[in-house]
Amino acid sequence: MANVKITETVLRDAHQSLAATRMTTEEMLPVLEALDAVGYHALEAWGGATFDACLRFLNEDPWERLRTIREHVKNTKLQMLFRGQNILGYRHYADDVVEYFVQKSIANGIDIIRIFDALNDPRNLKTAIDATRKEKGHVQVAFSYTTSPVHNNDYFATLAKQLEEMGADSICIKDMSGLLKPYDAYDLVKKLKASVHVPIELHTHYTAGLASMTALKAIEAGVDIIDTAISPMAMGTSQPPTEPIVAALAGTEYDTGLDLEKLNVVSSYFTGIREKYLESGLINPKVLKVDVNALRYQVPGGMLSNLVSQLKQAGKLDQLDEVLAEVPRVRADAGYPPLVTPTSQIVGTQAVFNVISGERYKIVTKEFKGIVHGDYGKTPAPISDKFRKQILGDEKPITCRPADKIKPELATLREKVKPYMEQEEDVLTYALFEQVATKFFEERKAKLYGLDGKNGDAELGVHMV
Ligand code: CO
Repeated sequence: MANVKITETVLRDAHQSLAATRMTTEEMLPVLEALDAVGYHALEAWGGATFDACLRFLNEDPWERLRTIREHVKNTKLQMLFRGQNILGYRHYADDVVEYFVQKSIANGIDIIRIFDALNDPRNLKTAIDATRKEKGHVQVAFSYTTSPVHNNDYFATLAKQLEEMGADSICIKDMSGLLKPYDAYDLVKKLKASVHVPIELHTHYTAGLASMTALKAIEAGVDIIDTAISPMAMGTSQPPTEPIVAALAGTEYDTGLDLEKLNVVSSYFTGIREKYLESGLINPKVLKVDVNALRYQVPGGMLSNLVSQLKQAGKLDQLDEVLAEVPRVRADAGYPPLVTPTSQIVGTQAVFNVISGERYKIVTKEFKGIVHGDYGKTPAPISDKFRKQILGDEKPITCRPADKIKPELATLREKVKPYMEQEEDVLTYALFEQVATKFFEERKAKLYGLDGKNGDAELGVHMV
């Protein structure tokens, strides 16, 4: 029996994708025991954008959330999403911060750390992989799936081998845009299984309407684990729904062994949450429908809506078709980065500027320069000398691992966070989101000690999920 295992995403990716990561710990609490009783392979419950959202929008301590979940989920493994050297933030951090973050994540209850890098540069994964091994956590390395003249299934099979050699206990296909098609998935999983010994997991999104079909073909090809979301929080930009997959596989050689009645307890609870979110507007019905444009333009659904809103702001919505044609050209110039946070925003914004300014690269964003400069790591394909010169002039690009340029940060951060420190983990919260963390700490201090918690400074950064 090759039982397929299920990782349930309702506590992380499902609400990150459908409801802007706004599910609160209080909303999770009543269902945690029922989730634990299902017998899932794992619950994806932390990391990704949840850390940022807890602090920024929910006034919650993300570490407290993790401990609460752990307290109520006694048997099921807890999994988090970790952006390699970016941890849960949007820039590269020093190795000592990455290592300490991994240590504290595991100490507070995480079993499996899913580590990925936007560019699939193994150097950006190494510190997190080594730290997870050291803490005896399960290292899952995810590669960002995309297609391009350099990305094909053989490329990913070779990459997976390298990741296994680096210490991955399992490999995840991270199809963040939901553009992996069923028969491509079949071929990819077959190639991965032939290339590595560790289990293979499939993470995909329902955005383009392919996900359940893709999951089924991946299962037929021998995938070990698939990510699904309980049905009220599934489909649209979220994961394929759990129950139909469990039902489809029941009685076959792929049987998940999960009980539909137990799933129904979870499902009933989240039906209420879904209704509440629809009513409050937290779930926009628009994200629930199949996004055929994602298929037509081969760009992630979220990226498309960003482009539309940027063009609208500039009063140039009539140029959308030109921008969509420009995106693949910019991506080619930049060495074919997969389109995932933060590269999707960087490539998209540059494409918008190229079109609305009337001249390609007349205006170049700081972030786009960063990609060409090597600040995000090695691009999948080399950037031509000619293009590099056009963007950087005489400035030399870096070829080392970006984090090699960052000195240890923890000691300085510890000094700075001292006035607010209530727990060791605070230094990490501060390291990742200095401004948001300070505001959160001040309000917490006011609550704890009855001081005036007023804080005038609002966070001005762009929020990316
Ligand atoms: Co995802």
